[in-house]
Amino acid sequence: METGRGGFGSKIGAVLAAAGSAVGLGNIWRFPTEVGNNGGAAFFLIYILCVLFVGLPIMVSEFVIGRHTHANTITAFRRLAPGKWWRVTGVEGVFVAFLILSYYIIVGGWTLHYSFASLSNHLKAGQDFGEYFARFSSSPWEPVVYAVVFMGLVHLTIVNGVRDGIERFSKVMMPLLLLIIGILVVCSFSMSGFGQGMRFLLKPDFSGVTSGVVLSAVGQAFYSLSLAMGCLCTYASYFDERTNLVKTAFSVVTIDTIVAVLAAFIVFPAVFSVGVEPDAGPGLVFITLPSVFNIAFHNVPVIGYVFSGLFYVLLFLAALTSAISLHEPVTAYMHEEWHLSRRKAAWLVTVACTLLGVLCSLSFGPLKGFTLCGMTLFDLFDYVSAKIIIPLGGVLIALFAGWYLDRKLVEREVTNGGKLHVPLFRVYRFLVRWVAPIAIVLIFFNELFH
Ligand code: PHE
Repeated sequence: METGRGGFGSKIGAVLAAAGSAVGLGNIWRFPTEVGNNGGAAFFLIYILCVLFVGLPIMVSEFVIGRHTHANTITAFRRLAPGKWWRVTGVEGVFVAFLILSYYIIVGGWTLHYSFASLSNHLKAGQDFGEYFARFSSSPWEPVVYAVVFMGLVHLTIVNGVRDGIERFSKVMMPLLLLIIGILVVCSFSMSGFGQGMRFLLKPDFSGVTSGVVLSAVGQAFYSLSLAMGCLCTYASYFDERTNLVKTAFSVVTIDTIVAVLAAFIVFPAVFSVGVEPDAGPGLVFITLPSVFNIAFHNVPVIGYVFSGLFYVLLFLAALTSAISLHEPVTAYMHEEWHLSRRKAAWLVTVACTLLGVLCSLSFGPLKGFTLCGMTLFDLFDYVSAKIIIPLGGVLIALFAGWYLDRKLVEREVTNGGKLHVPLFRVYRFLVRWVAPIAIVLIFFNELFH
């Protein structure tokens, strides 16, 4: 690559790395929960529209900004708009990636613990999983140890670089993840609640659709596609000149949506087999599902054991590839702007995030009483990043790519200097200038004032 800063070695590597960022906890527990909370199939249809009309144009814009500058997100905005305040958009991306990583590793640690616990047969029937989860998450040291191990794996991948670390890891992990999902879906065919689960997911009932449902769908699309966090912009800075940006974005969106739908195919039949309400909230994964798996397979406990083991490993892998994509924007920034070696920059990010992460973890136990604006540290980080900074960043990216950047520059980038024929370019322009910013401003106010 002419910039000498390394890059992805293959098209498939680039797609899998970006898909690894997008496919995460958001697909496997947030999506089924949102579908459950918002009435099933109707939400799902609206979600698809949001992905296509808001998510996809923003993703293409991030790709344009990253690939055009071949730089970390902050430098990218500075180069494209020298001396202008647009730089805050880059700062927002790097900052929010750092903030999210610090609590994402705690949940990543939980998924690691649950993988071990289910594989060593500790999530057995007959126990109170609510209490199990409360005991584990409030321990002052246990979740911290798991989070440190989780962060260690992220760190190892990052220090190996873009091609030998991120790309190689994604090329192994993503197919493995898809294989596990395939096995779980096949298992879920055999559950008694399969038909009911499918009906819930596939038969739309538009009577319950409110503006809140539409706005939740846009929010979910944003989160699930890792938009406005500097992740995809940074990954795109490692794309080469031949990468077809629109095609890559389509592939990432398709993989992300398929995984979300398959996760729902796995979760709903299990939930309906046992008769739990599908809107059980985020506790669904760590509290409801362990008992659901046990009850659903009580006739053949071996399958229950394999099913729950594979499910938590899946969750762990998905969280890991997303966490890697959160680490990279911050490391790349420190490496390129602070002139630290990549190794030193990575260490700095790892140590600082882990320290913040420890505080987040303690907010489930010893620091529970320490609240700001009525929220524990963990909830506060989640709230500020997901509900405030990310939507703002999304609007800024849309306005930047749609209104500030020269149309010719964007067109050249999207068509690889005129080599590709992109008939949808005008549609993209319209979506990024009008539809995406307006839709995001609406979510923003909805989220903030509800
Ligand atoms: N897109 C990820 C998911 O679906 C979430 C994520 C957030 C990933 C932030 C990277 C950065 O879980």
